[in-house]
Amino acid sequence: MIFLTGVTGKIGGETAKELIAKGAGLRALVRDEAKAAELKAAGVELIVGDIADPDIVKQGMDGAEKAFLLLPNGEQQEANEKQFTDLAVASGVKHLVKMSSMEAVADAKTPIPQAHWAVEEYIRASGLDWTMVKPNFFMQNLLASAPTIKEQRKFFLPMGNGTTGMADGRDIGAVCAEVLTGQGHAGQSYEITGPEVLSFYDVADRFSEVLGEKVEYLPMPMDQFRERMTGILVPWHLNAVCELFQEIAEIGLDHTTGTFKELIGRDPISLKQFIQDHLAVFK
Ligand SMILES: NC(=O)c1ccc[n+]([C@@H]2O[C@H](COP(=O)([O-])OP(=O)(O)OC[C@H]3O[C@@H](n4cnc5c(N)ncnc54)[C@H](OP(=O)(O)O)[C@@H]3O)[C@@H](O)[C@H]2O)c1
Repeated sequence: MIFLTGVTGKIGGETAKELIAKGAGLRALVRDEAKAAELKAAGVELIVGDIADPDIVKQGMDGAEKAFLLLPNGEQQEANEKQFTDLAVASGVKHLVKMSSMEAVADAKTPIPQAHWAVEEYIRASGLDWTMVKPNFFMQNLLASAPTIKEQRKFFLPMGNGTTGMADGRDIGAVCAEVLTGQGHAGQSYEITGPEVLSFYDVADRFSEVLGEKVEYLPMPMDQFRERMTGILVPWHLNAVCELFQEIAEIGLDHTTGTFKELIGRDPISLKQFIQDHLAVFK
């Protein structure tokens, strides 16, 4: 039995889909049962509640051999993930798989990767078997720019000339499912990228190619981005996202990894394929 969190979100949803296809026995923590109706219909046992509630989490972990830990970024993420780790130890879970990020390193400078790294260290010291899944920027983040791409053939982000090795969430879900069902993944940290290093100008070029019309990337000053997102994100999250995006603008990523292909045996999904698969929202 595998106990999953985050299944009503992007990566957890893809992970659950892959695991269902593999026929794995699944139990999932959800806050809103209605959002997980399809999973329930596919045979996933649902536990309804919040990850901050230790009794609910213990119920989910009862008899589970493996657990998948994914939470969205927020001020409580680190505390909730550390508590989840303690409960996994107490419940007899053997293997904990954590969704982290490629930026999470020992000398991480900004709050989101720092929190991921702190939890990684906590898990490594817990005595559990562990695997860290550490993806780069999700292609699915570009869906937030779909309205301006569709209406103006332009998108605005505060990444300057920064580069990423963006990966498709479907591929990240496939990696999580492999790690949760395959052999030899304990004690491994997997850095997952897509197939190419791309600046956001390159991203615009890929959109132009697939949509058949010129699409432009217009770098947005960070102050303007901060202003636009004020009230949409709570202050801790807004600050953390601005710092992370500033790091991408200034440092970015200069390489891809072959980890996805080594684990899954095929090439990762390209950005052009991602755009093609989401044509209805972009065109
Ligand atoms: N975006 C990127 O480019 C990127 C890159 C690398 C790593 N990451 C990492 O990926 C993670 C986010 O993954 P995602 O984009 O798949 O997340 P997401 O789509 O925002 O989904 C979050 C999931 O967590 C659930 N959840 C939220 N708060 C909860 C709580 N208090 N108790 C129980 N469940 C709760 C949500 O449930 P509801 O449906 O009820 O809200 C949802 O299922 C973050 O840790 C981030 O650092 C992101």
